[in-house]
Amino acid sequence: MKNGIFITGTDTGVGKTITAAGIAYALKARNVDVGVMKPIASGSRSDAQLLKRTAHVDDPIDLINPVYFDLPLAPSVASKIESRELDLQRVYAAFEHLSQQHEFLVVEGIGGIAVPIGKDKSVVDLAKRIDFPVLIVGRSNLGTINHTVLTVTFAKSFGLEVCGIVLNTGQDVPEDISVATNPIEIERLTKLPILGEIPFNQHISGKDMPIDLVGNFASSYIDISKIYPL
Ligand SMILES: Nc1ncnc2c1ncn2[C@@H]1O[C@H](COP(=O)(O)OP(=O)(O)OP(=O)(O)O)[C@@H](O)[C@H]1O
Ligand SMILES: [Mg+2]
Repeated sequence: MKNGIFITGTDTGVGKTITAAGIAYALKARNVDVGVMKPIASGSRSDAQLLKRTAHVDDPIDLINPVYFDLPLAPSVASKIESRELDLQRVYAAFEHLSQQHEFLVVEGIGGIAVPIGKDKSVVDLAKRIDFPVLIVGRSNLGTINHTVLTVTFAKSFGLEVCGIVLNTGQDVPEDISVATNPIEIERLTKLPILGEIPFNQHISGKDMPIDLVGNFASSYIDISKIYPL
């Protein structure tokens, strides 16, 4: 078994951090030495901070999140505007270090899988270099079949191993009729398992998510045995 998982999404804001926190929390609860990483962040380092707190790791935030841009933009764009080169060597050095330190590493990507992180690199290249099975997080409601199938197809076309899909309800909108049928249709089309369906929870909604609640909540909706067999 490869010692980690790479979490990407069908979009920004779909629930990657919540899913990553759920996995980290579940593994920690099973006494697995789990590490976390948000290799590249833009706009805020709060994902890295939330994951660090959830996994209870002492690793410095600069290792967990080695590259950070102030502007909430695709890294390639933020890098240009901020006149700062995105140092991928720094990312890979931190990744090597953390993956040696921990039994299992939960890595959260940035945005969706085709987001550019440099002139000629995108998240898919980062995922390939990290070489962990990829978990795709998507919305649970209408429109998600299209986005999820596109993301799976794109990932596979680059030779990535996709281990499954998590569907998350991140917004308090009335459930449309598709929510009940999307998982089955996505499994049929992608031949991949749905490893979690996370419902909306008003207590974790909002910009400042209560760190102590998120992992516990999300972990109860994720099939962790398919991610880390014990
Ligand atoms: N199940 C849920 N219940 C309530 N609120 C949620 C849920 N999932 C996500 N949210 C809300 O949506 C926001 C985005 O979720 P999250 O940060 O996990 O997405 P992300 O894909 O990691 O975003 P980013 O691309 O910024 O990293 C959260 O801050 C939270 O407010
Ligand atoms: Mg996030």
